[in-house]
Amino acid sequence: MRHHCAAVLGLSLLLLLILAGGAKAWRPWPQNTTTTTTVTTAADLEFGSSKKYEGSSEFVHLKYHMGPVMSSNITVHIIWYGKWQSSQKRIIREFINSISHDPAPTPSVAGWWKTVQLYTDQTDANISRSVQLGAEKNDRFYSHGKSLTRLSIQSVIKSAVTASTKPLPINPRSGIYLLLTSPDVYVQDFCREVCGFHYFTFPSIVGYTLPYAWVGNSQKLCPGVCAYPFAVPDYIPGLKPKKSPNGDVGVDGMISVIGHEIAELATNPLVNAWYAGGDPTAPVEIADLCEGIYGTGGGGSYTGQMLEDHDGATYNMNGIRRRFLVQWVWNHVVNYCTGPNALD
Ligand SMILES: *[C@@H]1O[C@H](CO)[C@@H](O)[C@H](O)[C@H]1NC(C)=O
Ligand SMILES: *[C@@H]1O[C@H](CO)[C@@H](O)[C@H](O)[C@H]1NC(C)=O
Ligand SMILES: *[C@@H]1O[C@H](CO)[C@@H](O)[C@H](O)[C@H]1NC(C)=O
Repeated sequence: MRHHCAAVLGLSLLLLLILAGGAKAWRPWPQNTTTTTTVTTAADLEFGSSKKYEGSSEFVHLKYHMGPVMSSNITVHIIWYGKWQSSQKRIIREFINSISHDPAPTPSVAGWWKTVQLYTDQTDANISRSVQLGAEKNDRFYSHGKSLTRLSIQSVIKSAVTASTKPLPINPRSGIYLLLTSPDVYVQDFCREVCGFHYFTFPSIVGYTLPYAWVGNSQKLCPGVCAYPFAVPDYIPGLKPKKSPNGDVGVDGMISVIGHEIAELATNPLVNAWYAGGDPTAPVEIADLCEGIYGTGGGGSYTGQMLEDHDGATYNMNGIRRRFLVQWVWNHVVNYCTGPNALD
């Protein structure tokens, strides 16, 4: 979730040291903000690290901390902040609707969600199979400006649930409030430490405790970081970006981050359920453990084996009418990252 990223980075570094070169979640953060251990080169990214095996580790102890998970039908409420084209909205809506859409051909988004469904609460209730889109809200005129903080994000959500016309419904038990910001909006720590995050709203600000996530469109600010591998950072010379499956680098890059946040919200909505590490203020959650892993062999800076469609676009799963590239998530039954496109 990367809520307090410095601490998460510290923990990741510790894990890295303990594992002595073992696989670790990866994204091309600006070099000076990550670690001083290695200089990444294009060759490392294309060929390196393939021995590493999908984050597999006997040292990762993901634990259940007795809090609630989202075990009843999940409804996602999108808040579109800033300027969004209807073609962009369609891609994102179809991804979310694909989560519970079984008829899509294998490997499918619904197959990806099956790993998330493996998590349960104290009563042995699994994460819900059903994830549906609910009412949406447009915040076209940037109600809280073009630079948001973690706290002002909560005010944006408050505006959406208390609007005088068509407020979003209040659903603390099975609602996910997903704030999506357009490419001209900066959010605290965006690009430097985070591409998205999730938490819950404070009753003192919003009036309710609502699980929410923010994901930014990085098209203008840092596609090489947050829309990797559909864009590559300038500091890695010679590396070619992959072609994105829906023709929109910013939005195709957001899809994996949206998947990451929804998977974590479902298994850790109030940040007291499923996470690794001893510090609840810097939890390492089921998607953090597999960031940057999209296929078999993935780990470190290697994405793992992905698929290519007839147009040469890179993806790893099918959804409704479309293809998507979505990172894998941690499977606590087998203790490594799994996804629907795994090769046996
Ligand atoms: C990283 O480097 C850039 C440019 O040199 C600088 O502006 C930025 O403050 C640095 N970030 C950190 C966290 O050191
Ligand atoms: C529910 O979780 C348990 C424990 O991980 C798992 O064995 C079972 O297959 C899950 N059920 C579904 C429907 O995913
Ligand atoms: C949950 O969603 C499924 C469809 O995915 C539906 O058949 C079922 O009636 C829903 N249950 C409730 C309690 O709304």
